[in-house]
Amino acid sequence: MIVGKSPHLVGLDIGSSSLKAGEIMVTKKRLTLKNFGMISIAPGAIEEGSITDPENIADSIRELFKANNIKEKNVAISIGGYSVIVKQIELQTATEKQLQETIHLEAEQYIPFDISEVNLDYQILGETEVGSNQMSVILVAAKKEMINEYIDLVQLAGLNPCIIDVDAFALQNIFETNYDIIDENVMLIDIGANKTSLNILKDHSSIFMRDVSMGCDQITQQIISLTDCSFTEAEQIKLGKRTDKISPDDLKQIVSSVISEWSIEIKRALDSYDSTNPDGQIKRVILSGGGANIKEFRQLLMDETSFEVEIINPFKKLHIAKRFDPSYLEQIAPQASICMGLALRRVDDK
Ligand SMILES: Nc1ncnc2c1ncn2[C@@H]1O[C@H](COP(=O)(O)OP(=O)(O)OP(=O)(O)O)[C@@H](O)[C@H]1O
Ligand SMILES: [Mg+2]
Repeated sequence: MIVGKSPHLVGLDIGSSSLKAGEIMVTKKRLTLKNFGMISIAPGAIEEGSITDPENIADSIRELFKANNIKEKNVAISIGGYSVIVKQIELQTATEKQLQETIHLEAEQYIPFDISEVNLDYQILGETEVGSNQMSVILVAAKKEMINEYIDLVQLAGLNPCIIDVDAFALQNIFETNYDIIDENVMLIDIGANKTSLNILKDHSSIFMRDVSMGCDQITQQIISLTDCSFTEAEQIKLGKRTDKISPDDLKQIVSSVISEWSIEIKRALDSYDSTNPDGQIKRVILSGGGANIKEFRQLLMDETSFEVEIINPFKKLHIAKRFDPSYLEQIAPQASICMGLALRRVDDK
């Protein structure tokens, strides 16, 4: 905690295709959007969550802050993917202090990495059932190596990483800020360029979480293999640029094969969730990330699951000043979600 400084910070989402930075001001009455900006990063500068070209990304972070006139140096970032494990476990009821001493031993069996290689965090949710002497705890383990890579990157950009969150928690935070959930289980799905995170919420806590290596880059890569064009050009074609390098039918076919793969993977996760939560029916699915913009995907998911599938609006309950273009905000809303969730955090949060 930085004593005497404003508790306000900048949410910085370091994605594998673009960086997003945003600020939310809290006044007594409401949350106000202060800033939001996005910038692409060099293809390949982040691979499988690992930062392969820190100088290049640090330059892009500086450029993003400058372009959006962001002066604040304290930032909240998040990590995700395979190097982060989030699990709800049941333990014998204990105090916070007792748990602090035993959590490493308890956690060992749930974590597929060497315990000495991870940073552990946890949150006690409460007693499982009244008088059961068992309590539910959310366990978060992240590889130290990965956390350090992200901290080094942010410092290289001249910023101060105050909070290291988890992608799925940031998303949950912005979702709960904007939507009223009444006693229903919700599945949040964030489809980025290279990873997809699935998170099922019940009573405001995450009861199932899975990150999968799939995303919109799969479409770009298939366009490249078919047309032999550059990454940048394939990306533009994917986003609708007219071209004679690929027929509309072939493009449609690529999109359709990739989104069916996504849908199969999501259904697999749902089956695995159903087998352990027979009463926890999901009624609502909320999509975020760039993949949420693919209309055919939303439709496919609705057809195949019969859930209500919505696209997230992270700005729904925020006060938005006139200088922001509403159509721009609408267009980037799904991609801004994690960043906005991070922008809700304060310097002195745990
Ligand atoms: N309308 C669209 N149709 C197809 N793809 C889209 C569309 N809009 C955005 N995308 C794709 O979404 C991806 C970017 O999404 P997002 O910003 O959520 O990813 P990221 O956070 O950078 O990546 P990750 O979280 O996987 O590291 C890009 O691959 C982009 O081409
Ligand atoms: Mg992302």
